[in-house]
Amino acid sequence: MGNTKTTGTPSVCNGQFLVEAVALSKWFYRKHDVVNAKPAVVTAVDRVSCGIRRGTVLGVVGESGCGKTTLGRMMVNLLEPSEGTVFFDGQDITHIGRREMHTIRRRMQIVFQDPFSSLDPRMTVYEIVGESLKNYRMVKNRKELRERVEYLAERCGLFADQCSRYPHEFSGGQRQRICIARALAAGPDFVVCDEAVSALDVSIQAQVINLLKDLQEEMGLTYLFVSHDLTVVEFISDEVAVMYLGQIVEQGRTEEVFRRPLHPYTEALLSAAPAFLPEEKAAKKRLLLEGDIPSPANPPQGCRFSSRCPQAEPHCREAPPPYREAAPGHFAACHRLNG
Ligand SMILES: Nc1ncnc2c1ncn2[C@@H]1O[C@H](COP(=O)(O)OP(=O)(O)OP(=O)(O)O)[C@@H](O)[C@H]1O
Ligand code: SF4
Ligand SMILES: [Mg+2]
Repeated sequence: MGNTKTTGTPSVCNGQFLVEAVALSKWFYRKHDVVNAKPAVVTAVDRVSCGIRRGTVLGVVGESGCGKTTLGRMMVNLLEPSEGTVFFDGQDITHIGRREMHTIRRRMQIVFQDPFSSLDPRMTVYEIVGESLKNYRMVKNRKELRERVEYLAERCGLFADQCSRYPHEFSGGQRQRICIARALAAGPDFVVCDEAVSALDVSIQAQVINLLKDLQEEMGLTYLFVSHDLTVVEFISDEVAVMYLGQIVEQGRTEEVFRRPLHPYTEALLSAAPAFLPEEKAAKKRLLLEGDIPSPANPPQGCRFSSRCPQAEPHCREAPPPYREAAPGHFAACHRLNG
């Protein structure tokens, strides 16, 4: 854990990124059980470095438990990293004081997966969306507050006359629109969308995704967009990072990663959705992800994907593959890329 070698795009720290993670790690201590005397250390995120350029969307994909949510929560300072640094607009926010964080919090928001549990059932839309407008003194009086909430609600696809209603009076899709309006109220620059449409009916998902994309383009927002749905990620993301067992194994422009995947794990993920694979790869025997995902408390030696990789060779288990730029702006960690 003390090793500072990173996975993910190397740090450039030159101001092109609005948000940047540098060698970010998070480990949790799982309570010991009857069999194991010692508490297990779960490394949810392991030395991840990645940057998100201003006004762009970085999609994060990977199987359940690979660390997507943990990474997203650290990037908006909702979870303290065990090691590493998060820069926001050039400022180190990793161990920032509460007061200073209050100012920065306005500029970074999160939209969660579940619009049911993330809204207080006792608050009206006026109160939910208006909370941060009041907290940050962004309106002068009650009239302005009401007008601003109604504007935000309408911008997110609701009607102004619905603003005095409570969350239970809305459908799932409408509740997520309320969550989005709440996230945008204080005028953020950076929004983490963590499986923001996964809990919605398929028929509603496209509408909410379109809304998120329109808002991002109109307001020049920067998103970290976490989703297990590759189609959605392809639609909304400029770049994509592929995570496996707490590490980024591949990152690059979305089209590049989806059409010319370099890492066998990315290929396997994409092969579950053949529309993404180039013809010559789709025509070959499809790579299927077999075997259980190893526990992050006890990852395989060497390359973490070696226990499931159809192309693994003995040396893959000896040393972790270096993370390198195999094509311009396209990074991956696999021994096969070393010639
Ligand atoms: N508070 C916690 N205590 C202990 N372990 C945790 C905690 N939060 C996350 N983990 C573990 O860290 C790993 C990464 O979890 P995380 O929720 O970030 O994954 P994820 O990629 O978001 O998964 P999903 O796709 O299911 O949402 C998992 O093994 C998870 O069990
Ligand atoms: S390093 Fe080896 S095991 Fe890991 S992804 Fe590459 S080929 Fe597979
Ligand atoms: Mg998650």
